[in-house]
Formats: sequence, C-alpha cells, structure tokens
Amino acid sequence: MSKQPLRLAVAEAERILREAGVASPRADAELLAAHVVGVERTKLTMVPLVSVSVVEELHRLVRERSKGIPLQHITGWAAMGAITVSVGPGVFVPRPETELLLAWGLAHLRRTRQPTIVDLCTGSGVLALAFANARPDASVHAVERDPSALAWARRNANALVGAGDRPVDLRFGDVGDPELLAELDGTVDLVVCNPPYVPEGTPVPVEVAEHDPHAAVFSGLDGMDTIRHVVHCAVRLLRPGGALALEHDDTHGEAVPELLRARQVLTEVADHPDLAGRPRFATALRRSLS
Ligand SMILES: C[S@@+](CC[C@H](N)C(=O)[O-])C[C@H]1O[C@@H](n2cnc3c(N)ncnc32)[C@H](O)[C@@H]1O
Repeated sequence: MSKQPLRLAVAEAERILREAGVASPRADAELLAAHVVGVERTKLTMVPLVSVSVVEELHRLVRERSKGIPLQHITGWAAMGAITVSVGPGVFVPRPETELLLAWGLAHLRRTRQPTIVDLCTGSGVLALAFANARPDASVHAVERDPSALAWARRNANALVGAGDRPVDLRFGDVGDPELLAELDGTVDLVVCNPPYVPEGTPVPVEVAEHDPHAAVFSGLDGMDTIRHVVHCAVRLLRPGGALALEHDDTHGEAVPELLRARQVLTEVADHPDLAGRPRFATALRRSLS
C-alpha cells in the first residue's frame, strides 16, 4: 500500500485550520496528527511516512475541528500539570491559563506538610486531581454542582487512583450552600477555584457557546455571581494563614481584588496576569489570629 509524507499531510491540515479561523492551527494540526498516528506530538518527526488511511482520518478530524468542535473533544483529553483528564460533551474543557492557578497553589504549599486543599467548581476534576498527583501527602476535596461534569470527574478520579494517586473526596454540591463542607470550617490550607465568570450575554467563540456547558462559563449579569459565593465559602473554610486562589475574567482585574479586600479577614490580596499579560487570577490569605 502506498505511503505519504506525514509532514505534507500536517502542513495541509494546518492550512485548512488557518483558513477556518482556528486560533492555533499549527499546534492543532500537530496534535490531531499525533492523535491519529498514536504518538506524542514531540515524536511526530520520527514518523516520516504514513498510510493513505491515516491521512484520510487526519483530514476527517481537521474537518470536525474546522466546524468548531474543541480539539480536546476530538482527542478526548486535556492536560494539567503532570496529569491528563478525559473530557467531552457535558464538561468544561480545562484551559492552559488554569495551569497558573495550579502553579501558584503548589508554590504556596511547598512548606506545608499534609495540606488540606479544596477545589470549588471542579468540573472534570482537573485541578483537584492535579494537586492530588503533585502532592500525594495532601487531603483534597472537590465540589461540583452539575451531575454530568461530576460524572466526568469521577471517571477521571478513578483512572488516576488506578494509576496510583491518592483518592480525592469528590462531592456533589453548590458553592452557594452555607453548609458546604462545613466539617472543614477553619481548617483548609488552600482553596482554589476556576468558577464560571463570563458576564451573561457576552459573545463567545462558537466552540465555547456550543460545546462548553452554559453554567460552566456564564455567571450573572456582571459575571461575578459564583465568585461572590466562592469568597464567602473560602473565608469560612480557610484556616488562619490559609490561601484562596481564584481565576477570573480579564475584565475583573480590579473587581475581584476589591471584593477580596472588602473582607476584613482577608489580607495580602494580589492579582496575577496570564501569559498574555491579561488579569487572570486573584489570591488572598486569611488573616492569622494574632
Ligand atoms: C469554568 S468551569 C471550571 C472547571 C474546572 N475547575 C477547570 O478548571 O477546568 C466551572 C465549573 O463550575 C461548576 N459550577 C457552576 N456553578 C456552580 C456552583 N454554584 N456550585 C458548584 N459548581 C458550580 C460548573 O458546572 C463547571 O463545571
């Protein structure tokens, strides 16, 4: 059977994706090719020739991607820290910028032994599971309100436990519930949250509008309905000296720190940019008692 150069097939895929307006055509073309060939993206150069059926399958997936189907729905996975999680319809696709929240949290906890970590609005479970993987000594708790997302989180948690990670306490719950995780009140070292934060009615790309669950993206007219609940909940859960790290919309670089500063019990409020320099997440510490 005749073989074709993979390099040419990837270049053609990139061209089609660019013309379709896909934001990162080179990366997507290579990741789709790696998925079809069954190798890591960095190993594509080790596969010079592929069969016609591989090229046809790559072009089929490129057509899907050109229609706005998220790359991660096509490949079936998304990465965070050292782990990958399964994703698909019914759950939010983890975004690269959330890696910054993970990195900040891990750095903050580096001197804390056996930390207690809470991930609110866990979606696929990605943050909770990345913390559990990076900190095997931690007790990690995660909360999600959408049963469909929680089912993805359970599947991901089971897979990582199967691979040797410590189990995470995954719960169905609402961050607006004043009794949520009440047994942990005043004991938590780190609360992280990537909540829904886009103001209702904001135009979003088709792959967000049609493939991320609405309740995972939008949160009230100003986008801050869930964030207000998260701040209340975090203040209750954190021990003195414990930290909150909260992702937000790039239009909330002042509003979220202001909300945190309005809480007397929070101190050292800071806002942090993403890799594109846009305001992306806020952090604060719960005041020590002394
Ligand atoms: C932006 S997604 C983030 C998911 C995950 N943390 C990540 O970074 O990929 C927000 C998640 O919060 C969940 N959510 C929305 N409102 C909630 C609430 N009131 N209580 C708990 N979870 C909520 C949504 O179902 C969605 O899974």
